[in-house]
Amino acid sequence: MIAGTRNINYLRISVTDRCNFRCRYCIPAAPFKFIEHDNIARYEEILRIVRIGCDMGITKVRVTGGEPFVRKGIFFFIRQLCRISQLKDISITTNGSRLNRNKIKELMDMGIQRLNFSLDTLVPEKFIWITGRDRFHKVWDTIMAAHDLGMSPIKINTVALKGFNDDEIQAIAGLTLKYPFHVRFIEHMQMGDTDVDASQQILTRDIKNLIIGAHGPLTAVPKGANDGPAKPYVLAGGPGILGFITPVSSHFCSECNRLRLTSRGTLRPCLLQNNETDILTPLRNGADDEALKQIMVTALKDKPLCHNLEKRTARDMPLNHMTSIGG
Ligand code: GTP
Ligand code: 5AD
Ligand code: SF4
Repeated sequence: MIAGTRNINYLRISVTDRCNFRCRYCIPAAPFKFIEHDNIARYEEILRIVRIGCDMGITKVRVTGGEPFVRKGIFFFIRQLCRISQLKDISITTNGSRLNRNKIKELMDMGIQRLNFSLDTLVPEKFIWITGRDRFHKVWDTIMAAHDLGMSPIKINTVALKGFNDDEIQAIAGLTLKYPFHVRFIEHMQMGDTDVDASQQILTRDIKNLIIGAHGPLTAVPKGANDGPAKPYVLAGGPGILGFITPVSSHFCSECNRLRLTSRGTLRPCLLQNNETDILTPLRNGADDEALKQIMVTALKDKPLCHNLEKRTARDMPLNHMTSIGG
């Protein structure tokens, strides 16, 4: 699928807007409504959209949420996805709290080779503060179980926030000296009405300086074939990779190769713009594959060249919170 000069081959599928965590930067501070069950795309509907996307050039999918493992039947769904032969890379972004050794083994047996975990702190009390849940040890044990089982690569997503984890950047980066993890620091994106504001943003330049101060030089390395937006580096002597995801200080829109399918069955061509095209209603009304392909092509015409996040005011921030888009 083509959008301008970009070849769109990566579909991010949010299977649910529900999450068992309440990360402060992700979920709005004010009460909000989850999507009603009937309006959530059923697995067979999602699979049909994915198959059509594959006919049009999708080769990589990522399953996201909310938290994908809170949705019933998710293992059945992932098993079906793994049977789609055109898909060369299937991965999942998770908070890790609903997984354990046996479930990871089950995922690996289905063909899942990599997982991305969200982890913003290594201090259990701070974990409770940011996620609203006392699950640090559970999540850490899950990451270790994935590592012991040989899952590779394991990616860790850390949203860097002033006053929260800026004193832990060195320790979190230091994980790459001990483990073959890809630790990615993400610049906070202001999305909707959350507890975290722009003054807490830490830009990559400052994150890198903290890391270099503690661990020495960062050496840029080439991106892997299936890597997303992170720019990869290594520290001398470490088996892991440090990545920086810079949507604010240096956007990567010109290289953006992805389309999103939200759990309410809309196609969202850009994380940071509210334009969405409903594909679920036409599908439920009997549209054939050709008509659904056309809807995808039309949705991609809305893919912006650049998000302009840094120039926006609070009033025109994306209205949908992250948990309903899936990052
Ligand atoms: P890999 O394919 O393993 O490299 O993963 P990924 O980085 O594409 O996926 P992941 O779900 O781990 O995403 C990490 C974070 O990167 C997301 O939560 C977002 O914060 C950010 N991100 C991913 N895609 C986009 C995008 O298209 N635009 C922007 N602005 N940020 C994105
Ligand atoms: N800015 C940057 N990253 C975010 N994530 C969630 N909300 C935000 C935000 N506002 C990240 C989480 C998770 C991924 C899916 O999205 O860390 O790893
Ligand atoms: Fe849940 Fe992930 Fe959002 Fe945290 S960042 S509330 S784990 S969806």
